[in-house]
Amino acid sequence: MAARWSGGVRCVIFVFSVFTSCQSLMSGAETKQRKLSTELNPGLSTAPPGGDLLHVRAVGDNDTLHFLFCSLGAPTLLLVHTNSSSSTVKVNWPLFLARNTSDSLMVEPESNILYSTAVVFSRLFEYDDVNDTADPTSDLFPPYELRNFTWSRLNQSDPIPLLCGSPTNFTNGSLCLQLSFFDSEGRDQFWPRLKHTADSSQLGVWLDGVLPRAAHSRFLLELQAVGGAYPWSRLEVHQSIDDEYTPSIFKVSRWISSANGSSDVLGFVQWKPVAYRQPHPALEDATPCRHSDPRAQNGEATAASSGLIQGFFSQPDVFGVNVSFGLAGEPFYNSTKFLSWTVLVGVGSPPVDSFSPLVVTIMAVGLGAPVLLLLLGGLWVCIRKSAADSTTAYEPIN
Ligand SMILES: *[C@@H]1O[C@H](CO)[C@@H](O)[C@H](O)[C@H]1NC(C)=O
Ligand SMILES: *[C@@H]1O[C@H](CO)[C@@H](O)[C@H](O)[C@H]1NC(C)=O
Ligand SMILES: *[C@@H]1O[C@H](CO)[C@@H](O)[C@H](O)[C@H]1NC(C)=O
Ligand SMILES: *[C@@H]1O[C@H](CO)[C@@H](O)[C@H](O)[C@H]1NC(C)=O
Ligand SMILES: *[C@@H]1O[C@H](CO)[C@@H](O)[C@H](O)[C@H]1NC(C)=O
Ligand SMILES: *[C@@H]1O[C@H](CO)[C@@H](O)[C@H](O)[C@H]1NC(C)=O
Ligand SMILES: *[C@@H]1O[C@H](CO)[C@@H](O)[C@H](O)[C@H]1NC(C)=O
Ligand SMILES: *[C@@H]1O[C@H](CO)[C@@H](O)[C@H](O)[C@H]1NC(C)=O
Ligand SMILES: *[C@@H]1O[C@H](CO)[C@@H](O)[C@H](O)[C@H]1NC(C)=O
Ligand SMILES: *[C@@H]1O[C@H](CO)[C@@H](O)[C@H](O)[C@H]1NC(C)=O
Ligand SMILES: *[C@@H]1O[C@H](CO)[C@@H](O)[C@H](O)[C@H]1NC(C)=O
Repeated sequence: MAARWSGGVRCVIFVFSVFTSCQSLMSGAETKQRKLSTELNPGLSTAPPGGDLLHVRAVGDNDTLHFLFCSLGAPTLLLVHTNSSSSTVKVNWPLFLARNTSDSLMVEPESNILYSTAVVFSRLFEYDDVNDTADPTSDLFPPYELRNFTWSRLNQSDPIPLLCGSPTNFTNGSLCLQLSFFDSEGRDQFWPRLKHTADSSQLGVWLDGVLPRAAHSRFLLELQAVGGAYPWSRLEVHQSIDDEYTPSIFKVSRWISSANGSSDVLGFVQWKPVAYRQPHPALEDATPCRHSDPRAQNGEATAASSGLIQGFFSQPDVFGVNVSFGLAGEPFYNSTKFLSWTVLVGVGSPPVDSFSPLVVTIMAVGLGAPVLLLLLGGLWVCIRKSAADSTTAYEPIN
């Protein structure tokens, strides 16, 4: 018995180690490395009035990904992918701050730009869910326009830049956005533990201590994305049977930018449909999210709301999506006065969760153990049978 068990354990360890080495081989072959450097308000020696512009340069072997994050108006993340490792960002500050012309922010040489897109955090909606139906179209309060918020200054030395803001009415509360940039593939250590690549940036968004306008308030966040030739018109929900990294969540939502009728994905906004009601959540603090279908938006209005969109794009084509937090029956915002949600924004194909080694091991044990038992059982029957045969065969002679 002991030998059989230790054999089984050895088998599991073997499967586990074969799988992990395969996985590291596979990922090692395609892991992209980027060198990151950050500058705040490039070309300016003093902080500009009204907001900051953070530039993160992520240089690869033969390409560069420029991340630009700006708090001049609605918070906006711009991604520009170039096929050169020496492209640069140039800002004409007087024009950029006047916010009435495009081309005040340029990535040069322009001919090296492969793809550019931007995501705007435009509005926060609050509704009074008196009947607990979580219907986000009824009893809406006037929306909070994020472009009218007073935003904190960005700190260049901060490895994970943080931006918090509030309209005067939030009193003590605030809406915060925190950005992470990556030099290689990996996974966040905090729930929902999203997988990331060197071609993406992760944004944590949370709503902390905001005084709800009703006892049964729930919130929605509106995002807008700028597409052009690659419209942001597809939002797909993919199923996963692996919830090891994000307990109880078996889905991933993927909003993508692609040419009409093409399967090539140029850019993505990806999230797990879950928000948390505590800064250090336990499983019961998770609350599901839903999203609306992408809808074409007025590009001029988006440009007017965001300094970065105005400065970089001329006549942007914009799609918008609402993400709503909480379902019917879930606690309301005032239960904890906290909500956090995490999203990954990047270029190219979004990272896909593979089965984790633990899950593969469990499957191997689940499928392998019965087979092993069958074999051992068969062997045992054989031995017993041959032993019985031998006894019956020789007994008469003795
Ligand atoms: C970039 O460089 C890698 C090797 O460093 C090469 O395999 C790849 O084809 C290059 N890509 C382009 C677009 O030149
Ligand atoms: C932009 O605004 C500035 C001042 O705010 C003004 O002087 C300038 O003429 C405007 N430019 C355009 C193209 O509207
Ligand atoms: C980058 O792309 C442009 C236009 O697609 C092309 O003309 C240029 O040769 C490319 N440069 C490199 C270094 O691949
Ligand atoms: C809530 O339910 C009451 C009674 O059924 C109904 O009169 C009211 O219109 C509902 N309110 C909303 C916002 O659906
Ligand atoms: C936000 O600011 C814009 C421009 O300053 C203004 O037109 C609009 O009314 C403001 N919205 C709110 C909700 O205060
Ligand atoms: C900026 O961030 C660094 C590192 O997190 C910190 O030491 C410094 O005090 C911050 N500066 C300001 C002005 O907040
Ligand atoms: C903010 O407060 C003012 C009065 O203090 C009120 O008129 C306004 O409607 C409030 N705005 C929101 C979005 O609640
Ligand atoms: C704001 O914070 C202060 C001190 O932290 C507290 O006394 C006050 O009640 C808070 N106000 C609201 C509206 O939560
Ligand atoms: C994509 O297709 C839609 C209709 O299916 C059309 O309205 C739109 O103009 C097309 N966009 C591009 C960039 O071809
Ligand atoms: C988000 O929801 C609000 C309220 O229902 C609506 O006014 C707005 O148009 C929606 N935005 C998008 C992009 O669907
Ligand atoms: C939420 O608001 C309702 C109605 O005012 C109140 O009964 C309830 O105690 C509040 N919950 C919390 C946690 O403050």
